[in-house]
Amino acid sequence: MKLFDVYPLFDVTIDHGKGCYVYDEKGQEYLDFYGGHAVISIGHSHPRYLQTMQEQAAKLCFYSNAVKNPLQVKLAEKLGKVSGYDDYQLFLINSGAEANENALKLASFYTGKKKVIAFSHAFHGRTSAAVNVTQNPKIQAPINSTFPVEFFELGDIDGIKASIAKGDVAAVIIEGISGVGGIHIPTTEFMQQLRKVTEENNVVLILDEIQSGYGRSGKFFAHQYTGIRPDIITVAKGIANGYPFAGVLISPKFTPVYGQLGTTFGGNHLGCALACTVLDVIQDEKLVENAAKQGEYLMQQLKSMSIPGLKELRGRGLMIGIEFDYPYKEVRNRLIYDQHVFTGAAGTNVLRILPPLCIGQKECDLFLERFEKSLKG
Ligand SMILES: Cc1ncc(COP(=O)(O)O)c(C=O)c1O
Repeated sequence: MKLFDVYPLFDVTIDHGKGCYVYDEKGQEYLDFYGGHAVISIGHSHPRYLQTMQEQAAKLCFYSNAVKNPLQVKLAEKLGKVSGYDDYQLFLINSGAEANENALKLASFYTGKKKVIAFSHAFHGRTSAAVNVTQNPKIQAPINSTFPVEFFELGDIDGIKASIAKGDVAAVIIEGISGVGGIHIPTTEFMQQLRKVTEENNVVLILDEIQSGYGRSGKFFAHQYTGIRPDIITVAKGIANGYPFAGVLISPKFTPVYGQLGTTFGGNHLGCALACTVLDVIQDEKLVENAAKQGEYLMQQLKSMSIPGLKELRGRGLMIGIEFDYPYKEVRNRLIYDQHVFTGAAGTNVLRILPPLCIGQKECDLFLERFEKSLKG
């Protein structure tokens, strides 16, 4: 059997990783400023993560959601404390798209409505409802348009107010910082206005923190820079440092109903144990603070560099976009093949910097030096 060939691949085979570095099968070291798409939070092969994996796997990897699972309760308690959402409820699933799928379903159950407001450059995943609120016709199949969606530009509060005034909107879904869309940060003023208009009209505000959450922005959630509290927050990526796992944080105003949501694998024992260890490491190693500190350093250094064709530098913490006025392709290829640095990308012109949250100044300097070389060709 052949693989279903949907991914354009770099000609690199990653064999193992350690901290902020990954290695190919010949032992060549790469600096990982991509984190496997913002997934690696505490670093590759963290010893505490490996220990938890071994211990929990030896005990129990999985049993169904039909029985009590104290690890889920432990994770919910820890996540509530670390994130500042102690009074919220947690529903566990396996991927980011599934988190948004369930968030949108909950909003629709709660309001009895089905229209959703989303944003032009946002990405929320590829399952049916998640892709319907992602404005990219290339990844939407005809069966995905099952409910009405209105897209607005970030900041267009007047348009949103007019739409909500019609009375048929169930939810607004917005990323803490847009990732795939190229690192766009909603302003504090806009977020506060959005919270106000949704609250006043009983519209559910869903914050997709799948990429921008779990410390990446320098706060636990990116929206915490704006002082608002959404009704639902979705998390995935960094939650279990590479083990497929995700969550929906749900405000106390939602009353759970038996059977309304469900999953076979979500909240499995191994995933919960790993997610607890990830939170312990994030706290013990002060990784949120580190993301803020290293992000600030990187940003300052990038600002002081002369970057030919630079259009804009955007970002917070370790979620940085470098937008060129030309396609990044050659620069990114040189970074990977000549300088051995992985970076992310968005569209054709934005390089996305998404390293593990445990990078130090040494790794930042190494990145800056190699980035400068890759710009020269
Ligand atoms: C903001 C955001 N939401 C949702 C998703 C979808 O997550 P997953 O690929 O785990 O389904 C992504 C993935 O890149 C994302 O960046």
